[in-house]
Amino acid sequence: MNTNSTLSNPATNNTNNTNNPNNGEYKEIKLYDLTANQILDFDIYIYLSINNKFIKYLSRNNFLDDDQLLRLKCKHVIQLFIHKDDINNYNKYLSSSIKGQISQNNLSDNQKMELIKNSACNIIESVNSITGDDGAITWTNNCINLTKIIVSDLSETKISTIYDKLRGLLSTKPTLINHSLSVSSLGVVFGMALGIHDAKSISELALGGLLHDIGFSNTSVDLVEKYLNSNELTSEELSQLKTHPSEGYQIVGKILKSAKITDNIIKIILEHHENAAGSGYPIGKGLPSLSYLCKIVAIADKTSIDILKYKTVDLKYSLAKLLKAQEERREYDKVMLTQLLTVIK
Ligand SMILES: [Fe+2]
Ligand SMILES: [Fe+2]
Repeated sequence: MNTNSTLSNPATNNTNNTNNPNNGEYKEIKLYDLTANQILDFDIYIYLSINNKFIKYLSRNNFLDDDQLLRLKCKHVIQLFIHKDDINNYNKYLSSSIKGQISQNNLSDNQKMELIKNSACNIIESVNSITGDDGAITWTNNCINLTKIIVSDLSETKISTIYDKLRGLLSTKPTLINHSLSVSSLGVVFGMALGIHDAKSISELALGGLLHDIGFSNTSVDLVEKYLNSNELTSEELSQLKTHPSEGYQIVGKILKSAKITDNIIKIILEHHENAAGSGYPIGKGLPSLSYLCKIVAIADKTSIDILKYKTVDLKYSLAKLLKAQEERREYDKVMLTQLLTVIK
C-alpha cells in the first residue's frame, strides 16, 4: 500500500490563504465517510504546509485498514482531500459506503444521524461540481439512497423518537444541512400524519425536503445562517435570499436530462415559498394550484425554522402558531394545518 506517513495539520495552517495552491483543484473529504477495508476508486491527498503542497497519501485501488483509519481518527485535526476529477468516483463510493454502514445493526442513533448528516452534507456541497451524465446519475442516486434511509428510519420510529432526532440535529448550530434534513424528516412525518402512504409520494416528500433549498448552495454561508436563525435581514439580503427557489430550479434543471427528479420535486424546489395569497416568491402572483406535496413541505420548512429559532421541538405549538397567523396572512393551507394539529400530539 502506497502511503506517506508525513502528516500535516492544515487546520492550523489556513489553507484558504493566498498561498494556498488549492484553487478548487482539491476537495476536502470527511475522514468519517471512509470505511475500513473498502477499495477506493480515488486518490487521497493531504496538505503539507511546510512546502505548501498537496501530496498523495493513498493511491486509488488501495484501501485503509482498521488500524490506519483509527490512527487517522485519533489525529482529530487531519484533513484529507481528493482531486476534483475524482468527485464522481468519490460520490459513488459514498453511496455504497453509507448503505453498508447504515445496514450494520450495531450503530447507535447518534452514529446513524452522523452518517446521514455527512451524506446530506456531501450531496448539498457537491451539487455544483456535478459533471456529465454519469455525475448527474450518481448524484441523484446518492440523493435517492439517502432519502430511502431517512424514510425507513422514520417509518420504524415512534414520533417521540423523531423529536429526539430533531433535537440531535439542533445540537449543533443551524446550518443548511440540519435544516434540509429536518424539513425532509418533517415532510415525511407530516405526510404520513395526513394519510399519505404511497411510497412514491413519501419519497418525493423526503427528497423534495432535502433539496428544497438547494438554491442556497451558491449563497454565502453567513447569510443562510442569518436567515435560518430568523435574524433580521436588510432589504438587500432579503432580495438576495429570494432568488434561491429559481436558482435551485436552475441547478436541478442542469441535471434533469439524465437524472430521475420528478415534477413534484421540481415544484417543491421552485414553489415552496409561493402561496395562494400572492405574497410569496419567486413569482408572487398567487398560486392557487400549489401541489399538495409542496404545501406540506412549505409547512415543514416554516416549522423547521421555528424549531431552529426557539431551540425546542414542540410541533403542536409551532403548527398552532402558524394556524393563528393564517387568519391574516393566508400563507399556508389552513385545512392541512387544522388536520395536522388534530393528529400531531
Ligand atoms: Fe427556501
Ligand atoms: Fe427552507
